[in-house]
Amino acid sequence: MAVSHRFGGPWTERKLEALRDYLVQYQLIFKRNPKARKLQTIYVDAFAGTGERDAGERTAGPGLFGYDEEIRGYQEGSVRKALSIDDKFDRYIFIESKPKHAAALKKLIAGEFSKLSDRCTIEEEDANAWLQRWCRTQDWRGQRAVVFLDPYGMNVDWATIEAIARTKAIDLWVLFPFAIGANRMMPKDAPPDSLWAKRLTAIFGTEEWKSRFYAESRKRDLFADDQGSIVKIAGMAEVLEFFLERLLSVFAKIVERPLILENSKHTPMYALCFAAGNPAGAPTAVKIASHLTKS
Ligand SMILES: C[S@@+](CC[C@H](N)C(=O)[O-])C[C@H]1O[C@@H](n2cnc3c(N)ncnc32)[C@H](O)[C@@H]1O
Repeated sequence: MAVSHRFGGPWTERKLEALRDYLVQYQLIFKRNPKARKLQTIYVDAFAGTGERDAGERTAGPGLFGYDEEIRGYQEGSVRKALSIDDKFDRYIFIESKPKHAAALKKLIAGEFSKLSDRCTIEEEDANAWLQRWCRTQDWRGQRAVVFLDPYGMNVDWATIEAIARTKAIDLWVLFPFAIGANRMMPKDAPPDSLWAKRLTAIFGTEEWKSRFYAESRKRDLFADDQGSIVKIAGMAEVLEFFLERLLSVFAKIVERPLILENSKHTPMYALCFAAGNPAGAPTAVKIASHLTKS
């Protein structure tokens, strides 16, 4: 029996379509260009899942990192989409920390993609740790990669994004839960508690978010004493803008208007962001990704 992996909704399909179409275009460029043809291409799916998703039934409502709109039936996940494109990558690396999901991936590859099994590696590990080590230890002169970071919530560390950018050889797709994650972790009338503050710093890679999103507000109470309190001065748009600024600070070029994924009530949830690391390839990469993420 297939391992059931329930997540997402119609917006997930839109996200995966953009990714799949990008992988197709990427491989076309690398096959057509005589210089680029000499480079090995690698697709890395961190937070890989099982290869497919059980789109499930309608749920009662969204949790903090939840999903509130679903349709029934199994649909292709990112791994299946990536393995199904015609012009194959030279290598595929799937990172999945949950043993059951990693086992389902192994089964999927052995069963339906056995011809590609020599090119595929499954890493049953934490994606942040694995990617940081991999980016640091590879020789990037002879290879280029596309990395897809597709977590449920706020699991991607800035150190990972920075390590990816430093290679100058990777194009990055990252799903950032700016509305249902980062923005909600910041209460309106007081700064987040220390645990969430630590997570936000790990995600943005700086403590600058504190001064960007919070400021002191002074109110006079009944006895005319000044009461100071720290309140939120930003909304979800500013949260996303800050993340994009952070991406641009380490990558050659980014898609300036990422694809905003909304639930059925048109409430924004995630932004599908794209950043290109190789200075020579970045203008073309961003042109393609911008086209694919147009709302
Ligand atoms: C949203 S799902 C990925 C869906 C997948 N991209 C797809 O389209 O089918 C996130 C996956 O990441 C895995 N995961 C969660 N935390 C992880 C971590 N720190 N490192 C690696 N995988 C992780 C979960 O077990 C889950 O399978």
